[in-house]
Amino acid sequence: MYGRIIGSGAYLPARRLDNHELERMVDTSDEWIRARTGIVRRAIAAEGEYTSDLAEAAAREAIAASGVSLSQIDLIIVATTTPDLVFPSTATLVQHRLGIRGCPAFDIQAVCAGFIYALDVVDKYMRSGACRCALVIGAETFSRIVDWTDRTTCVLFGDGAGAMVIKSDDEPGILSTHVHADGAYKELLWVPVGVSTGNAEVEAGRAFTRMKGNEVFRWAVTAMSDIAVEALRHNGLSIEDLDWLVPHQANVRIIQAIGKRLRLPPEKVVVTVAEHGNTSAASVPLAFDTAVRDGRFKHGDLILLEGFGGGFTWGSALIRY
Ligand code: ACO
Repeated sequence: MYGRIIGSGAYLPARRLDNHELERMVDTSDEWIRARTGIVRRAIAAEGEYTSDLAEAAAREAIAASGVSLSQIDLIIVATTTPDLVFPSTATLVQHRLGIRGCPAFDIQAVCAGFIYALDVVDKYMRSGACRCALVIGAETFSRIVDWTDRTTCVLFGDGAGAMVIKSDDEPGILSTHVHADGAYKELLWVPVGVSTGNAEVEAGRAFTRMKGNEVFRWAVTAMSDIAVEALRHNGLSIEDLDWLVPHQANVRIIQAIGKRLRLPPEKVVVTVAEHGNTSAASVPLAFDTAVRDGRFKHGDLILLEGFGGGFTWGSALIRY
């Protein structure tokens, strides 16, 4: 059995923070942000609005689009770097809000590659027959781990959630997933404190993202180009067979560089970074849902989803829509 995506959903918090507002917060300009990143605005969660709220809203939309009943869902995975609580997991919080009981529910932490890691797990559950209907969510309140006085990072990130309902089917669906990690690059992109290493720093609100942007940029382009080739080769397909690429939305220049390396026409690449910013684990399902709802994806299309994030972690999922 394979996993087939039968519904998707998305949620963005109501508040939009545009580049002009950022000009008043740090020494930056709308022109610099647009030219260097392609970002125009991003959504920011309201005070008291948590990752589980965003996840639940996206999940409800995906479930409605799929037509399945809540009782059919037998696996829930939330990919997030910004869980509501240390524990229990955000997945169990969402499970409870949806009124589902008993099925496995857990979080995955692979930063911006988290949603791809979640698809990798779902694919394995489906192929083994251990699950028949999975709810997979990428949700982040990344604004909570951004230093709003650091112009090199605060202009990049946003909050949001995307979700998919994936049902087992004897036709793929998910053709293959490939995930990778290399922990040698920890200090290029990280939040250098945590519960075990420095709870005091977390409590003091100093748990912020730090990044060596240039080096991450180069790595992201190479890794996301290489995994596209890996996924297509594995399935005996070529770049000409691909209808759509849905890459992690971190920077439009990274996305353009990947397209160029792969010789993929820009019109085949889904780009939402202008409106969303980098929403980490939510970025790929948010972009996916955007293209579903504007009617770009047609039944039978070959779509490659790709993520890249801190760790480093990276991966792809090749699907037949
Ligand atoms: N406004 C104005 N100037 C700025 C800003 C800003 N917001 N930020 C940096 N600058 C300045 C720098 O200080 C530097 O000035 P200097 O030349 O006087 O030293 C200049 O702009 C150029 O800085 P660079 O860092 O070289 O700019 P670059 O073109 O590399 O763009 C960016 C920076 C946007 C961060 C880019 O490197 C990038 O997108 N990196 C990858 C991010 C990414 O992909 N993350 C993926 C995963 S995210 C995750 O997993 C959580």
